[in-house]
Amino acid sequence: MKGDLVFDFTNLTEDAVGEHGISDKLLNSLYEVAYNVHLDLKKRREAGEYIYRDLPYIRVDSILKYEETVKNKYENFVNVGIGGSALGAQALVMALCHPFQNLLKQNGMRMFFADNIDPDFLSGMFDIAEPKKTLFNIITKSGSTAETMGTFLLVKDMLEKLVGQRWREHVVITTDAEKGDLRKIADNENIASFVVPGGVGGRFSVFTPVGLLPAACAGIDIKELLKGAAAMDKRLESADVMDNPAYLFSMYQYLLDKEKGKRISVMMPYSSGLYGLADWFRQIWAESLGKKYNLDNSVVNAGPTPVKAIGVTDQHSQVQLYVEGPFDKVFTIMAVESFKNELPMEPAYKGTSSLDYLGGRTMAELIKAERLGTIYALTKNNRPNMTITFPEVTPYTVGGFIYMLEVATVFSGGLYNINPLDQPGVEAGKVAAFALMGRSGYEEKASEIDTGLINRDKYIK
Ligand code: PA5
Repeated sequence: MKGDLVFDFTNLTEDAVGEHGISDKLLNSLYEVAYNVHLDLKKRREAGEYIYRDLPYIRVDSILKYEETVKNKYENFVNVGIGGSALGAQALVMALCHPFQNLLKQNGMRMFFADNIDPDFLSGMFDIAEPKKTLFNIITKSGSTAETMGTFLLVKDMLEKLVGQRWREHVVITTDAEKGDLRKIADNENIASFVVPGGVGGRFSVFTPVGLLPAACAGIDIKELLKGAAAMDKRLESADVMDNPAYLFSMYQYLLDKEKGKRISVMMPYSSGLYGLADWFRQIWAESLGKKYNLDNSVVNAGPTPVKAIGVTDQHSQVQLYVEGPFDKVFTIMAVESFKNELPMEPAYKGTSSLDYLGGRTMAELIKAERLGTIYALTKNNRPNMTITFPEVTPYTVGGFIYMLEVATVFSGGLYNINPLDQPGVEAGKVAAFALMGRSGYEEKASEIDTGLINRDKYIK
């Protein structure tokens, strides 16, 4: 349908890239497993286990009402959160706001993402986003992540020194309805707050206040975003796994990893705005599918490695490797059919061959030619690649894209026979940080880390 994403799987096939691609026979051999995964996911969705699938239909009135009250009050919005509490909102802002919204100061607040805790980076951010003119959204589902809680302390202290008791007006909290220290703080301090619905993991929370509140404050039409996700939900209802783009995406990626040794999955948008979505994909794919144990408790150390690249810039950095290096990658190219600006190049210096063919054409035509050129080079060199085309980059198409990949991720979990919704490796890192910073209750872990460290003297020069 016009306005919908188009998925072109052609260049993943054996017909296009020979032995490095997937034959119909191989794809069909996965049919039964895939169909059973579909039935299992359907049953779980009906049993209310997959809340993320209901999110396109959530009500956003309270978010929009809150945004109305703050939009003319603050110049800046600082998103204090990490991982799933940052990447979705960041991707939305990159894709759907003016590329220089923070300099332009139009259509929504200036947006900042305080995810990394590099003290120089944070200090620099606070120099630019003056706390007095800023709304800080503290986002943590668990209500305890060290990076976010630590930044909250910085923010509270700064604000208190500047505006005294009114610091609370500069803060909005997004966290679990009941669990975690941040919920207690929000309730006790009477700070405005939003809820991350139970059962929705960070990286699946774009369509909750985690992603929607920052998006609304950035001036993005969040109703259209959800409309796109809901339309994609309908599109993905098909039980025919060969007709369902999310399932097909998973099946090809899975077979290319397991049967063809393509352990690296590169997502490469030919659009600066869509680069944040490749970054978001990197998290959902890595954190969901990278698992030590399968569902039968056997050690499998599963998981493809997602990588982001950007066209055209990385044609002059990565593409040499992609075209001629090891046969260990599959590529997802993201294309934009219609950019907001065509940007015509006015002819000049007639008779100059390096300019004549460009004059009179548009930058939109050039980026398209560069994209098709890369696809040609990849395919000719037998590198499996597919293209997802955005007719236009709008809240509707971006909503559909995110939702499609959420479904594809959980479906892939079924194919790999792992749990895509947990992240024990991330939790282990969080616990180690608590222990190393002396949080009470983590003393045993602290001594385990201490005694577990090898003698490094020999290796440090
Ligand atoms: O997807 C996930 O669950 C993680 O990436 C989390 O979002 C991340 O670790 C931050 O967790 P929290 O929101 O609890 O602070």
